[in-house]
Amino acid sequence: MTINSIPIWLDCDPGHDDAIAMLISCFHPAFKLLGLGASYGNAPSENTSYNARSLITAFGKTQDVPIYPSAKRPWVFEPEYAPDVHGASGLDGTTLLPVPECEMIIEKSYLDAMEEAIITHNGEITLVSTGALTSVATLLRDRPHLKKMVRYISIMGGGIDLGNRNDNHSAEFNIWIDPQAANFILSDPDIKNKCILLPLNVTHKAIADQRVQDQIRGKGQSKLRELFYELFKFFEHCYKDAQGFDYPPTHDPLTLMPLLQFYGWVNPSVLQLTYRRLNLHAIEDRNSPDLGKTCILKEYNSQEDLGTIVCFDMNIGFFWEQVFQALDRAAKSSTIE
Ligand code: RIB
Ligand code: CA
Repeated sequence: MTINSIPIWLDCDPGHDDAIAMLISCFHPAFKLLGLGASYGNAPSENTSYNARSLITAFGKTQDVPIYPSAKRPWVFEPEYAPDVHGASGLDGTTLLPVPECEMIIEKSYLDAMEEAIITHNGEITLVSTGALTSVATLLRDRPHLKKMVRYISIMGGGIDLGNRNDNHSAEFNIWIDPQAANFILSDPDIKNKCILLPLNVTHKAIADQRVQDQIRGKGQSKLRELFYELFKFFEHCYKDAQGFDYPPTHDPLTLMPLLQFYGWVNPSVLQLTYRRLNLHAIEDRNSPDLGKTCILKEYNSQEDLGTIVCFDMNIGFFWEQVFQALDRAAKSSTIE
């Protein structure tokens, strides 16, 4: 039985871990990356747009992946960035990033491009969000007819009693920078039950330790491998200084793993995904020390098809294998070798 590839649209803020999500989106055989939105988040949208174009150039995919500038600022608050973790550019730590050989597409808005992709892949497409939820929330708020056409929305964001931002360290960055947009997604009855959330509870298990970094680097014969090794080293030092980790958690590419199971590419026994079905709400009060914290409003039993699918664990060794295999394929098509 042939299994169709998984059509995805990636809205991201590259971003060291976003770069790994881009790598898997471009090179894992299960996925068909229809387009990419570069949003504000880890850095201003001008930076994340440049970084996305540079990575797609390094991958040799400039003719395959259209890149659009997406959300430039949150719905209500002023933009916040993450130079403490990603550097001022949003992707600091290496000199191997090539000058982009592709332009942002500005003749068409990211909203029109996403709508076209959704209509073309009606009922099959997954929107993947690895930065603020502003872009996806804006699309579905302004074009509600698209809600029923999207199969899943896979999101890196949130934390259950775990955080990396606000005074109490109780919120996760992607939710904290735009809790209003997050709450639109997490509360809308036509959207919330098709959301797959990868919170810090699971992403903090995907640690790029020295063994992983050495396997990424390989035998030193690939510039693309060296590029990712240097990015991970920078990410490691920042996470050590900013959050006291020995090695960096690789949050964003985990958004792609549940899709392999839900679209039938891998058996549940392989991914070993564990999740709860929850209604969540992010605190929006800018005066609260828990601003952006994701709170549980209600839990459903897993047999009901209700509540956001909130992931808490998976086979991390399987995840790293997908990264290593995607990097093997990318190194063969890279333009910087
Ligand atoms: O909190 C982790 C998230 O914030 C990741 O998506 C990382 O790239 C940053 O955007
Ligand atoms: Ca990100």
